[in-house]
Amino acid sequence: MGELIYEFFMLAYLCFFLLTTKTLSQQQEPQVPCFYIFGDSLVDNGNNNGILTLARANYMPYGVDFPQGTTGRFTNGRTYVDILAQLLGFPNYIPPYARVRGRALLRGANYASGAAGIRDETGNNLGDHMPLNQQVENFGRTVEVLRRLFRGNNYTLNAYLSKCIFYSGLGSNDYLNNYFMTDFYSTHSQYTPQAYANALLQDYCKQLSELYNLGARKVIVTAVGQIGCIPYQLARYDGNSSRCNEEINDTILLFNLGLKKLVIRFNKVLQGAKFVFLDSFESSKDLVVNAKTYGFEVVDKGCCGVGRNNGQITCLPLQQPCEDRSKYIFWDAFHPTEVANILLAKKSYYSKSKAFAYPINIQQLVAV
Ligand SMILES: *[C@@H]1O[C@H](CO)[C@@H](O)[C@H](O)[C@H]1NC(C)=O
Ligand SMILES: *[C@@H]1O[C@H](CO)[C@@H](O)[C@H](O)[C@H]1NC(C)=O
Ligand SMILES: *[C@@H]1O[C@H](CO)[C@@H](O)[C@H](O)[C@H]1NC(C)=O
Repeated sequence: MGELIYEFFMLAYLCFFLLTTKTLSQQQEPQVPCFYIFGDSLVDNGNNNGILTLARANYMPYGVDFPQGTTGRFTNGRTYVDILAQLLGFPNYIPPYARVRGRALLRGANYASGAAGIRDETGNNLGDHMPLNQQVENFGRTVEVLRRLFRGNNYTLNAYLSKCIFYSGLGSNDYLNNYFMTDFYSTHSQYTPQAYANALLQDYCKQLSELYNLGARKVIVTAVGQIGCIPYQLARYDGNSSRCNEEINDTILLFNLGLKKLVIRFNKVLQGAKFVFLDSFESSKDLVVNAKTYGFEVVDKGCCGVGRNNGQITCLPLQQPCEDRSKYIFWDAFHPTEVANILLAKKSYYSKSKAFAYPINIQQLVAV
């Protein structure tokens, strides 16, 4: 008996050792040469730190669970794209564009900016930021730097870029900080929900096509999540603060449906393009519906925030966050916790369900 137990532990030790060395060697060799990121506060990792805006997160307790502490990430730990970078085998997180220069751009850059939208005016209620048009322009500047590094050889440059992963997640602010913010914006009275979705998709189509023209081939496009159910909306709902705002949910779905169609069209007409549609509405809904399975105990309140559902005012400087972040889906009024981000990233990377990643998952996108 004693020997058996001893053997068991030897084996366990051996397997542990094999596993750790395997992950280590994988980490040194990323599966793709580069990763470029476009988006809003869900993936911004510090681009807004130096600009005049309320959409900033470079103060404690943001980053309370991040090894380097506060960085400008709008969550307690890693963002969705930090975890995706790790799943892709990158030894380091992709740096914010605001701080990356020269040869480092070969590995990737994160152009995302809190409050950013597909439309330029989106998020102006919060102050300055880089809308998607500007993020795409910044990528264009990056390509100029890369072209010099490739000594002007467009052929090798394009072959290189065609292997990179591109991620684009926008649209939430075009609803939260535009269409549904009727005090500040007139879009709600100008457009029906369907007309607004169409207008957004028309702009987004141009912006994504521009990325393709600049060399992007493997592109992940993310739908808008279930933003009718974030603590910020739950807190605004009169009467019952555990009910989602269905008008927002339904309006978002029009955009998401069109976005999926756009991805299908891109895959048909853009030569060599491999677009993947991530249905983050479905995956964020899954987190709530199956909360218990994932170990969540609180699905309708931010871990850090003020007022009803901790969702009326976002997490303030030096505010005390909840004790156990792993029990919460939401970190603040708008943004998921690190644990939720891990689940969302793994789902999009490995999922066998086309309901989450269409037509293929990210692991398969890497391999094509
Ligand atoms: C490479 O591509 C750029 C941008 O499309 C173009 O301006 C340039 O003339 C090309 N260079 C060569 C050598 O073809
Ligand atoms: C609030 O809504 C939830 C979910 O729809 C429901 O379960 C609950 O009974 C409602 N509470 C009140 C006070 O109406
Ligand atoms: C949006 O919110 C409603 C009401 O809370 C929820 O039941 C529903 O699942 C959401 N809508 C969709 C289409 O998922």
